[in-house]
Amino acid sequence: MYSIIPRLNISFLVLTAKKSVFSVLNTIELNKMQVFTQKRNPITGSTEWDVQHEDYDYHQEIARSAFADMLHDTERNKKYHRALQLAIEKMHRNGKKANVLDIGTGTGLLSIMAVKCGADSVTACEAFKPMADCCVKILQRNGVADKIKIIPKRSTDLIVGDDGDMPERANILVTEVFDTELIGEGALSTFDHAHKHLLEEDCIVVPDSAVIYAQVVECPMLQKWNKLNDLVDEDLNLILRTPESQKFTVTATGKAQAVFMWWELNMDTEVTPMLI
Ligand SMILES: C[S@@+](CC[C@H](N)C(=O)[O-])C[C@H]1O[C@@H](n2cnc3c(N)ncnc32)[C@H](O)[C@@H]1O
Repeated sequence: MYSIIPRLNISFLVLTAKKSVFSVLNTIELNKMQVFTQKRNPITGSTEWDVQHEDYDYHQEIARSAFADMLHDTERNKKYHRALQLAIEKMHRNGKKANVLDIGTGTGLLSIMAVKCGADSVTACEAFKPMADCCVKILQRNGVADKIKIIPKRSTDLIVGDDGDMPERANILVTEVFDTELIGEGALSTFDHAHKHLLEEDCIVVPDSAVIYAQVVECPMLQKWNKLNDLVDEDLNLILRTPESQKFTVTATGKAQAVFMWWELNMDTEVTPMLI
């Protein structure tokens, strides 16, 4: 059932990842559990958390979250691995310990990479409790459970201190809390909080920075695919009317019918392997 991710040398549930993650999940104790699910507030654009009933079928949330896809994304994983390696080496070169915080660890993949790259300590938090439980089992089966401290909490609830979740602030943050719009999963508030409360001032963050691109295009077919609708509340009262038109400084002739959006991550400050 275990296999090796080529060149990363991490034993993981890869070839049968989907099946394996779910079979682990099936063994998790479900009784009396509080389940949080994410929901997008369409007005503010922010991500909020809903507490669900204990019988809520969270397997659907796990399936939609595409954890297996992330395990299979070799390009992404290699770039995270390389950037982590550089960050940990840099801390050691500067005579410091490499204390890694992995926010939103999911399956634990990035934390396992940090251990394999020689991190001195790894703390991993995961807000989605069923996934955190799953992660504990994955770490045990990969023989690294004693090297990674899993905390089933949202990062913004972590406490640093002798009696807290982490004895001291971390000096490397690794995280992948990005969605298709980059910052739609509440990434900005997560980073902001981490810098203020969980990280040392001279920390290294993987990824280091990001750029969002948007391209206005003329394409009647695309325009039909994704029409913006007026926003109404549950009683169908109009909350926000879709603007008929917007003013821009025009630099080319044509009709603006759709916007393509994409982003890229600068994984580290030195060799800048891009993840697009
Ligand atoms: C895109 S997945 C990444 C999983 C894993 N790190 C990887 O790269 O394969 C993001 C995970 O972060 C969790 N998450 C998002 N924001 C979080 C936060 N502020 N604190 C803890 N977990 C968070 C989500 O529940 C989800 O499991």
